[in-house]
Amino acid sequence: MLEFNARPMPELQSTRDGRVALLRAVRESDAALLGAFFNGLTPASRRRRFHGGVNGLTPALLAHMTRPDPRRELALVLITFETGRVACIGEARYAVDDGPADEREFSLAVSDAWQGVGIGAGLMRSLVRHARTQGVARLVGDVLRDNLPMIELALHSGFTVQSHPADARLLRVTRAIGVPAIDDALPLAPLGVETSSPMLRVQ
Ligand SMILES: CC(C)(COP(=O)(O)OP(=O)(O)OC[C@H]1O[C@@H](n2cnc3c(N)ncnc32)[C@H](O)[C@@H]1OP(=O)(O)O)[C@@H](O)C(=O)NCCC(=O)NCCS
Repeated sequence: MLEFNARPMPELQSTRDGRVALLRAVRESDAALLGAFFNGLTPASRRRRFHGGVNGLTPALLAHMTRPDPRRELALVLITFETGRVACIGEARYAVDDGPADEREFSLAVSDAWQGVGIGAGLMRSLVRHARTQGVARLVGDVLRDNLPMIELALHSGFTVQSHPADARLLRVTRAIGVPAIDDALPLAPLGVETSSPMLRVQ
């Protein structure tokens, strides 16, 4: 079985409209932060993130989501301090699925108020980068057929889109991690670097 120890360093991500947020690994103490993030999504976004299947995020589920197995999973949260308090505005993760041992299934979501400024694309690039570092061969994702923003984002991020093998409501998006895509090279702003530079914007 593929095993690795995922310990991603915190890094700054800047949006296309010049705002900056901190991307870091999820912590056990993030359950309330993550709960507020998911509860703050519009019903449409929550349905798309969980494929319609979530009736409230239970404390047990949130606790599970804040304790990824570092050998086989990755979970990132994007944090802003814009309103004077800490808030989560995005999350991205991958975990083992039913497929081959070197495959991971990803999911992500961005707060509705922050969608459309490049955050989703930046989160996808981070997932791909960590997957490559950690020896993952392929990322796959299941996407509701009517989720056009996610289908567009997947295509934009070098994934191919196919029918889902078992669920007619879904499409399956797949990307081989060893194959670089043009978009992978776009810069992220590392901590300690002046992030107001246009060169460092996620675009
Ligand atoms: C899908 C989602 C993550 C996209 O995040 P985002 O931050 O809005 O995406 P970005 O601004 O980075 O957009 C990246 C690309 O995705 C595509 N895209 C994003 N939103 C789109 C929309 N509403 N319509 C069409 N294409 C869209 C575009 O190709 C875009 O590139 P461009 O900005 O150069 O045109 C976000 O809409 C979301 O959280 N949705 C709800 C949860 C969800 O669907 N999760 C996926 C479950 S697997």
